[in-house]
Amino acid sequence: MLGEFQETLLQSVKAFQSTELVMNKYENVLQHLDSGIMLFDTEGTMTFINVRMAKLLELPRQSLIGCNLAQLLKHPGISHYKRKKIIGLYRETIVYRKRNFEFMDEYGRYWLATITYSDEMDGDYLVSVKDVSEFKQIEETAYQNDKLAMLGKISAAIAHEIRNPLTAIRGFIQLLKPHLVQLGRDEYAQIILSEIDRANDIIYEFLNSSKPSTPQKSVISVASLLKEVVLLTESEALMKGCEISIKEVAPQMSIAVDVKQIKQVLLNMIKNAMEAIEEVGSEHSGQIEVKAELEEKYVNISIRDNGKGMDKAMLAKLFSPFFTTKEKGTGLGLSVSYRIIKNHRGTIFADSIKGAGTIFVISLPLAT
Ligand SMILES: Nc1ncnc2c1ncn2[C@@H]1O[C@H](COP(=O)(O)OP(=O)(O)O)[C@@H](O)[C@H]1O
Ligand SMILES: [Mg+2]
Repeated sequence: MLGEFQETLLQSVKAFQSTELVMNKYENVLQHLDSGIMLFDTEGTMTFINVRMAKLLELPRQSLIGCNLAQLLKHPGISHYKRKKIIGLYRETIVYRKRNFEFMDEYGRYWLATITYSDEMDGDYLVSVKDVSEFKQIEETAYQNDKLAMLGKISAAIAHEIRNPLTAIRGFIQLLKPHLVQLGRDEYAQIILSEIDRANDIIYEFLNSSKPSTPQKSVISVASLLKEVVLLTESEALMKGCEISIKEVAPQMSIAVDVKQIKQVLLNMIKNAMEAIEEVGSEHSGQIEVKAELEEKYVNISIRDNGKGMDKAMLAKLFSPFFTTKEKGTGLGLSVSYRIIKNHRGTIFADSIKGAGTIFVISLPLAT
C-alpha cells in the first residue's frame, strides 16, 4: 500500500518536474524571441515581459513585472518619448480598437505593435512589438521609385512641349540673321542661337537623367572629375563667401560613368551646399570639402558643408521630387541625382545636423 503511494507520489513529482522543464523551455524561447512581448492580466497587471521588450523600453525587466499601465507610465526610468508612444499605442488599440500601431523610436527605427485580447487569451492582454524597419525601407523605396517614374513622364512631356517652340524660334532667328548682319548686330543672332542651344542641351540632359536610361559610360579618373567640377564652381563659391577644397583623392581611382550625368550630380550637390551656406548669413565663413575614399570595390565621394543643416524630418524627404525649402527651388536636383546614381548602380547617403552642416556620400563602383 505504502509502496504504491510512494510510486504515485514519485510519478507526480516527475510529471511536475517535466512540466516545469517544458515551461522553462517555453519561457526561454519567449525570452529570446526577436519580437518584444508583454503580457497583462485581467486586472491590467504585467505578468510577463521578455528581454527584447525590456531592451526596447530601456528599463530593467525586474522593475516592470507587477506594474500596471499607469505605473509603467510613471516609471522613473522611462523616457518622455517612450511614454508618448505607449499612450499612442493605448489610444489606437484599446480606445479605437485598431489591431496594429506603427511607430518610430527615437533612433529612427520602425516598430509594429499588436495587441491581442479576447476569449482566446483568457482575459489577458498580449502586447507584441516587431522591428519592421526593413519592410518600411522597401516600402519607401517602392514609393520613391513610383514618384520618380511619374516625374520621368511629366518631365518628358514638359520637355517635349518646350522643345517645339524652341525649334521654331531657332528657325526664325536664322531667317532674321542676314537682316541683323546688315544692321551690324550679328552677334545678337549668335547669342540667341547659342542660348537656345544651351536650353536645348539642358532639356536633353534632364530628359536623359529623369528617364531610366542606361548611361553612356566612359572611364574617368575620380581626381580629374572632381578637379573639373570644383573648377566650374569655384568662382561662384568665392562670390558667395565660401571656399571649396578637395581632400584626399588617390590618383589611381577610376570609375566607368556617364561623365555628363555624374558632373550634373556633383554640381547639384555643390550648388545645394553653397545655398545652405548662404542661408546661414554673410558673416559665416563657408567651407565645402570634397573627398574621395576607397571602400572595397567602391569609391565614396563625399561633399561636406558647414551650412544651415537639416533636421531628421527634412532628411527623410530629401530625395522626393519637388521637395524644396527654397523660394526659387525646383526640388528636382536631388531626386534627379538619386536616379542618376541608381542607374550607375551606386548609392547616395545623406546625413546632417541642423545648424552645423551636411554631408552627402555618393558611392560608385570602381571601373574594372
Ligand atoms: N547641403 C544641404 N544643406 C542643407 N539643406 C539641403 C542641402 N542640400 C539639399 N538641401 C535641402 O533639400 C532640398 C531639396 O534640394 P534639391 O532637390 O536640390 O532642390 P532645390 O535645391 O531646388 O530646393 C533643398 O530645398 C534644401 O532644403
Ligand atoms: Mg538643388
